[in-house]
Amino acid sequence: MSDHKKEIDHVTGVETTGHEWDGLKELNNPLPRWWVWVWVVTIIWAVGYWVVYPAWPTLSGHTKGTFGWTQYKELEASQAEIFARQSQYLDKFQAASYDQISGDPELYAFAQAGGRALFKNNCALCHGSGAEGSKGYPNLNDDDWLWGGTLADIEHTIRYGIRSSHDEARVSQMPSFGKDAMLEKEEIEKVVDYVLSLSSDEGSAAYAEGAEIFANNCASCHGEDAKGGRDFGAPNLSDAIWLYGGEHEDVYQSVFNAHAGVMPNWEGKLDDNSIRQLTLYVHSLGGGEGVGSAVVEEVSQEEPVLESSPDASEPSQDSVVKETSIDASAEPSVEGVPVATEAATDEPADK
Ligand code: HEC
Ligand code: HEC
Repeated sequence: MSDHKKEIDHVTGVETTGHEWDGLKELNNPLPRWWVWVWVVTIIWAVGYWVVYPAWPTLSGHTKGTFGWTQYKELEASQAEIFARQSQYLDKFQAASYDQISGDPELYAFAQAGGRALFKNNCALCHGSGAEGSKGYPNLNDDDWLWGGTLADIEHTIRYGIRSSHDEARVSQMPSFGKDAMLEKEEIEKVVDYVLSLSSDEGSAAYAEGAEIFANNCASCHGEDAKGGRDFGAPNLSDAIWLYGGEHEDVYQSVFNAHAGVMPNWEGKLDDNSIRQLTLYVHSLGGGEGVGSAVVEEVSQEEPVLESSPDASEPSQDSVVKETSIDASAEPSVEGVPVATEAATDEPADK
């Protein structure tokens, strides 16, 4: 630059830089003041930042900054804030009975959100992310319960499991009628035909022999009317809802070999609050029954009445509906409890 002699642009009176393009000369204007100040401030800011925050790599790691700030600490702080907000609800939740929780929309919503997240993490693997189930894993959205659908029943199932290693687990074992030679193959065929007829339109009248085999071998667990026995986790065989498949071959296998589905216990793996949130969540999925254990007993006492109804051996969709509505009307405590009302009047027929 020094070799170019100073030239002043005669229009503006500003010195030129000596650069010229097609007769246009570049003026050597100073940088705007504001721009220079912003530049200076950013430099000061950067130096301040290096001092306050972790910034430069060193041989042993990096400079720590005067406050020792890290992203981890920030995360911890915001988590602590969330836990504090949660514990406000958790404390209330822990102290409240199911009835109280169901009657408190805010607390109930809190439990539902927790239950839904816990379900996705722990249960969806077997029961499906919508709790829809699959072969061998029950659908939890319906009111077709193996072991019972009250809050107390569901909590027991979740807490202790089914055929799990826990002492309090729900246990039962259907005999392997074929494998253990308790019934002849023909007898199994007959009882399978009878069982299948219970949920078909043709009815069971033509299967007297199968009916007798059933009465002698199966009714003790599945019930005289084959509507299931919750004391043994024995499924309802008359409702066309099958845990292990409803083709002739599937049912034959179920009788020949028998199944023993295992549901893990969650006590010791999940804390009390989690188990109770899951209970409320599963109960709300569509099939929840009753509200407390007092109601459970009342509901199960209703069942003998239904057994004596004339079409017990040939249940139609209607009879199932009737059954459920009787249960619903038999519950004194559902008023004003949004969950229970919903559960009790929900569409009844399938699992
Ligand atoms: C390893 C697979 C597995 C996992 C994980 C699992 N379950 Fe289950 N669950 C089962 C099986 C299998 C059954 C049916 C057992 C039987 O045949 O009686 C069952 C049954 C149930 C029942 C009883 C249904 C009825 O009709 O009575 C409930 C309620 C239940 N599970 C809830 C849960 C919840 C909540 C979780 C998560 C905390 C969970 N399960 C996790 C396999 C599993
Ligand atoms: C000791 C009680 C008991 C006896 C007796 C019994 N069962 Fe079962 N049965 C069960 C249990 C419990 C299950 C569910 C097994 C599971 O969930 O893994 C079951 C399941 C079934 C299934 C599968 C149902 C489905 O939804 O897929 C069929 C079919 C069945 N039993 C038929 C029979 C027949 C037929 C007899 C008589 C020959 C019989 N059972 C005797 C307890 C019993």
